[in-house]
Amino acid sequence: MTSIRLRTLPHFLLALFLSFAALDRASAQDVGAAPDVSKEGVAPGATAAAAPAAAAGATTGDAAAIAAGDALFKGNCAQCHAVNEKVVGPALRDISKRRSLAWLIPWIKNSSKVVASGDEYAVKIFNEYQKQQMPSFQLSDAEITSIVSYLDAESAKPAVAVTPPTGGKPGEGGETAAPGTEAGAAKYVDILLIVLVVVLIVLVVTLVIIANIMKDVLRGRKDLDGRDVEMLEQRTDWTQLYKSKVVRGLAVGIFVLAVLYESVQGVMAVGLQQGYQPTQPIAFSHKLHAGEHQINCAYCHTSVYKSKSANIPSANICMNCHSQIKTESPEIKKIYRAIQKNQPIQWVRIHNLPDLAYFNHSQHTQVGGLECQTCHGPIQNMEVVYQYSALTMGWCINCHRETPLNTKGNGYYDKLVQLHDKANGAVPFTVSSNGGTECSKCHY
Ligand code: HEC
Ligand code: HEC
Ligand code: HEC
Ligand code: HEC
Ligand code: HEC
Ligand code: HEC
Repeated sequence: MTSIRLRTLPHFLLALFLSFAALDRASAQDVGAAPDVSKEGVAPGATAAAAPAAAAGATTGDAAAIAAGDALFKGNCAQCHAVNEKVVGPALRDISKRRSLAWLIPWIKNSSKVVASGDEYAVKIFNEYQKQQMPSFQLSDAEITSIVSYLDAESAKPAVAVTPPTGGKPGEGGETAAPGTEAGAAKYVDILLIVLVVVLIVLVVTLVIIANIMKDVLRGRKDLDGRDVEMLEQRTDWTQLYKSKVVRGLAVGIFVLAVLYESVQGVMAVGLQQGYQPTQPIAFSHKLHAGEHQINCAYCHTSVYKSKSANIPSANICMNCHSQIKTESPEIKKIYRAIQKNQPIQWVRIHNLPDLAYFNHSQHTQVGGLECQTCHGPIQNMEVVYQYSALTMGWCINCHRETPLNTKGNGYYDKLVQLHDKANGAVPFTVSSNGGTECSKCHY
């Protein structure tokens, strides 16, 4: 009988090992996925790249100028204008048929000056739009020309696409496509894993069946000695397994480890609030404003490219539009009430690093050229904002280890990159090569 027990034990251990190996692989995959995601969105901002192109190509109708105009329009004008639809300002379809370039350039640079000059058309449209002033833009003549080229190109298309005025929402396209393939790969591995498990189960069942058939065949034979008969008659004795010290020890060990693991995870998660999604006092939707109406993030979060913090917009910024739009909506009336009472709207804060860590937005958005979505996720699709990233120290450091620093055309880095390449040419010059993982960069 001892030989039986010894034989079932390795089988049990093997099964245990296999299931753990499978679990381990699944969780390793989870951990591996996170840094990869952060690698995706690191491409520098589209508008920043488009600006020089605008200065270069100024001739109406050429593709580069249209593309530059597209980017400039989305960055500066799309929050108030669409091609086929009245938003805050008029629809701009066929604008160059209505107005000459000689009128448009001074208008876009400073519309109130044109109105003040008594220009008949300007005064008329200004009054028509309840004397709402269009902001002044410090754009060059070439940039304005490229916007007009873009509007001409859009006007040439038939006016069917009404809802998203310029086709495609910001942040989509490149950004969603890339993580899509990532998710595809992960799914593929999952399927592979499931197939492997199924194959294993089928194998085990087949082996059991074969063993039983062979036993049946053996039972029919008469020339068996005592040992063989004993082997034939053996039954797996589960009570023996249950009584075995080794098995009991293992079970207790696994239980203790699991409890320990859970507690450590729990302790590590203290103060973390990934996914936090409080209800806000006004049903403000980023999906509607930043997604459908393509209002630039920095139109509201005005300091995000300039300073440490991204500000939350004051009610006055809402009033730029909501003095005209949806004035009867109960949600919008809450804005009016706040202004009447001269009290700020009490938005609930979502992201909150502990005071011991220093984080600076302009360092990441302006200098590093990171997209908001890399850290905040698909904000332009969120009805209600939630905390997308973990905001742990590991999260910061992982990205600093993996993100190549954008050093091109920046004289400050030339010497550093040279030194780095000489010592360590094989690995790219990342944020951490520049000291981005030193404790004092984030704690002081
Ligand atoms: C904050 C909202 C806002 C922004 C941003 C804005 N506009 Fe306007 N725009 C208006 C309003 C409102 C009018 C109507 C005239 C008025 O009230 O001054 C207007 C009028 C115009 C007109 C005249 C339209 C017509 O039918 O004759 C043109 C052209 C124009 N805008 C172009 C632009 C361009 C190009 C940009 C981006 C560089 C831009 N606007 C950005 C609000 C805006
Ligand atoms: C029309 C104004 C407006 C625009 C445009 C806008 N936001 Fe906001 N944002 C707000 C307001 C108001 C809040 C506070 C209420 C809330 O959380 O929804 C906020 C909150 C946030 C928060 C959470 C802040 C916290 O409490 O931790 C993030 C992150 C954010 N916005 C990112 C973005 C990004 C990224 C974009 C561009 C894709 C963007 N916002 C565009 C007005 C705006
Ligand atoms: C640049 C223009 C603009 C700014 C700035 C703006 N909004 Fe809006 N808002 C809109 C547009 C356009 C709509 C959609 C109106 C529609 O559906 O007809 C809208 C819709 C809304 C709605 C939905 C109203 C309803 O009942 O359907 C709410 C709530 C709202 N905005 C709140 C805010 C708040 C709060 C702010 C300031 C943080 C703000 N908005 C700033 C343009 C703006
Ligand atoms: C490198 C990651 C990263 C990027 C890129 C980034 N943010 Fe943030 N954001 C954070 C972190 C971390 C916080 C929490 C800061 C804190 O609590 O001090 C935060 C907080 C915020 C807040 C709440 C107010 C504040 O400053 O604490 C807003 C609003 C916001 N971000 C908007 C934006 C917008 C808009 C962009 C793009 C222009 C952007 N963020 C890009 C990481 C990032
Ligand atoms: C998605 C990637 C990413 C994440 C996440 C991220 N960073 Fe960064 N960080 C960068 C990049 C890129 C730079 C380099 C910007 C530059 O100088 O060109 C940088 C630079 C810095 C610097 C300046 C380092 C130096 O050498 O001067 C500090 C400090 C910093 N980050 C803090 C943080 C903190 C704190 C967090 C987490 C709350 C964080 N970062 C999360 C990408 C990231
Ligand atoms: C890129 C930025 C960054 C760097 C570099 C960095 N930290 Fe942190 N650290 C953070 C952030 C963000 C937090 C807060 C996140 C949290 O609560 O998990 C933090 C939290 C901590 C905490 C508190 C942990 C807790 O749970 O309250 C300690 C201790 C700490 N860091 C030590 C260090 C040491 C030691 C180093 C150098 C080896 C270092 N950090 C380097 C960003 C950084």
